[in-house]
Amino acid sequence: MKKVLSLVFVLTLVLSVFSITITMTAGAVGTELQTLIEQVNMFMEENPDVTVQILPMPNSATDRHDLYVTYLASGTPDPDVLQLDVIWPAEFAPFLVDLTDDYDYFELDEFFPGTVDTNTYQGQLVAVPWFTDAGILYYRKDLLEKYGYEVPETWDDLFTAAKDISEMEGINGFVWQGAQYEGLTCNFMEFVHSFGGEIMEDGKVVVDDPKYYEKNIAALTYMDKLIEEGVTPRGVTTYMEEEARRIFQNGDAVFMRNWPYAWPLANAENSPIKGKVGITVLPKGPGPDGRNSATLGGWNLGINANSSPAEIEASKRLIKFLTSHEQQVYKAVHAGQTPTRVEAYQDPRTIEANDFYADILDVFLNAEPRPASPIYSEISYQIYSTVHQVLVGSLEPKRAIDNLAANLKALTE
Ligand code: GLC
Repeated sequence: MKKVLSLVFVLTLVLSVFSITITMTAGAVGTELQTLIEQVNMFMEENPDVTVQILPMPNSATDRHDLYVTYLASGTPDPDVLQLDVIWPAEFAPFLVDLTDDYDYFELDEFFPGTVDTNTYQGQLVAVPWFTDAGILYYRKDLLEKYGYEVPETWDDLFTAAKDISEMEGINGFVWQGAQYEGLTCNFMEFVHSFGGEIMEDGKVVVDDPKYYEKNIAALTYMDKLIEEGVTPRGVTTYMEEEARRIFQNGDAVFMRNWPYAWPLANAENSPIKGKVGITVLPKGPGPDGRNSATLGGWNLGINANSSPAEIEASKRLIKFLTSHEQQVYKAVHAGQTPTRVEAYQDPRTIEANDFYADILDVFLNAEPRPASPIYSEISYQIYSTVHQVLVGSLEPKRAIDNLAANLKALTE
């Protein structure tokens, strides 16, 4: 007995010397967290020397950003693997491991070049693209058919159908993300671009440029009008992704703007709207400059520069695993999160689970980035807090656009 016990003791000692624990931050919209837990378990089975602890993060990208600032600025070695929003590489680059020499190890030639570019700051690769996002319009196929409406092409089409159907059915017309956080910047940019407006161009503030000024005002006025005329519920000023999704998935809205992750949930066995949902590009604004626009989103995996060499090595293995073809397909199927590898779209498993990809591939390919800047978070704060004031009724759209122009110029010039 004694012998067995000492053998167990020695084995535990050996394992603890050769095993390593790393921590990873993770989002949790829809089935994202559950899917990641399954993937990490697969990784640990293949890599028994590594233990991965998952740290669930707030769903708000803004709150997550603020937590990262605390972690990284304090120089702690944890978390090791960071899930990074597409808008952050420039700001966090100094705190992340330089992965430039690992380009081939991560097989980055197999990825959409744009997703690699957004993770490259001043020539350095700072993160590996994990999944991409683009704003899309979800609609109730059954209700459009019942009331004889076509899939909307313009915001006015959407407005008319949403108003009519929501009144007849006693549900909401159109839900989106209007809380005071990063998601509102994404939604606002889509309205602005769809009206032919622009906020920044090549690092320069163009909010009040004569080419864009009236269009920016019109776009913001339209968002406000959706709420004022009851097409969008007043509560939208507190909605993030999950609030909008729950309402839509419950059958309580005709239209929803969201990211692709809502798809598998809307069509899950227990979903009241299973099989009744369509997806399309967000509508066009008015006039000859009106166009369809989707904001480019997505998340990447980077490594904390304060992690130890052994933690960095294990983190690289985890990132390589999670961004592999097999795991990107797994994520697309189970979490509805869109691959960054080109071939993952041709995989029959991806196609079967997300049959809408083929129809709106252009939306993903043409999604419009938010301004790239090391002070992006401050820029976005000015945008979403100003827009929010309009949505809650405390500022007129024209004044808001004027304020935004002045505040963004003060920040960047
Ligand atoms: C999604 C996008 C991300 C964006 C966030 C805003 O997670 O992928 O890029 O910043 O939504 O809420």
